[in-house]
Amino acid sequence: MFYFFKAYFRFLLRSTNQHGVHSPFVFGLVTKCFYDHKKYPAYQKIQKHRKSLLQDKRNIRVTDFGAGSRVFSSDERKVSEIAKNAGITSKRARLLNRLVNYLNVKNALELGTSVGLGTTAMAAGNKVQVTTIEGCPETAKVAAEKFRELGLDNIQLKVGKFEDVIEDRGQWTEDREKNSKFLIPNSKSVSISPKQPTTDNSQPITAHYDLIYIDGNHQKEATLSYFEKLLSAVHNDSVMIFDDIHWSAEMEEAWEIIKEHPSVKVTIDTFFWGLVFFRREQEKEHFVIRA
Ligand SMILES: C[S@@+](CC[C@H](N)C(=O)[O-])C[C@H]1O[C@@H](n2cnc3c(N)ncnc32)[C@H](O)[C@@H]1O
Repeated sequence: MFYFFKAYFRFLLRSTNQHGVHSPFVFGLVTKCFYDHKKYPAYQKIQKHRKSLLQDKRNIRVTDFGAGSRVFSSDERKVSEIAKNAGITSKRARLLNRLVNYLNVKNALELGTSVGLGTTAMAAGNKVQVTTIEGCPETAKVAAEKFRELGLDNIQLKVGKFEDVIEDRGQWTEDREKNSKFLIPNSKSVSISPKQPTTDNSQPITAHYDLIYIDGNHQKEATLSYFEKLLSAVHNDSVMIFDDIHWSAEMEEAWEIIKEHPSVKVTIDTFFWGLVFFRREQEKEHFVIRA
């Protein structure tokens, strides 16, 4: 925790708002999206999801993926507690919702669904198809149930370890074409469609994403490995968002390595997130901005 506060203090010293940002792309993003304080109807759906989770006192058996992707424990936890501890905050959820809209995201991928708060933030009110991956089957079941209650039919939930599901990516389209009841690419992961969880999943699946939100395994090696693997799933205008880049010295190291990667052009450090853009037309530049 001490590390976290020190990192935050360093961030405050280095960060700015839109002033001094000379890149028109980043200036527009900051002023029209980060600092957009209008209230959008989609926020109500995001709030409804959170409220329903906080009132949900069921105990579920959670499979913990904390140590790398090795499952090390299984534990009973209250759904409401998971939402409080693992879920995205309301402020970040609203920002994620605006980012999907502002960047005109049509296909998004999330690593780490948990109980679905980040997924709903992307999907609500936006013309986007969201694919989300969760390793814990019980947690995923709760998320799918909430997506159904909210009538969100633009989400596809894949249950499995990130490593396995990402490896299977090339096969997703093929699986959809096969029209199978459950999509079981290599029997290590299964798909749940929120609308019809036990029938064919008719959501379009793509191998390329406009936005990739990486919010699962907050460890250096895992983060770098997802980054490398998913580079083949981005295009010039994609954004990758890494959660908790200042959580530990290791995560900060991972963030520095990502920034230096030759295909990375623009990065924005908002303290809680690191945004990565690949825009070939732009000079390499790193921003530190209070969102
Ligand atoms: C911080 S939570 C995600 C929060 C969510 N994105 C949100 O915005 O509310 C991280 C989730 O990632 C899952 N996870 C972590 N490592 C994983 C792995 N290697 N494979 C599959 N799931 C994993 C955990 O089970 C947990 O539910």
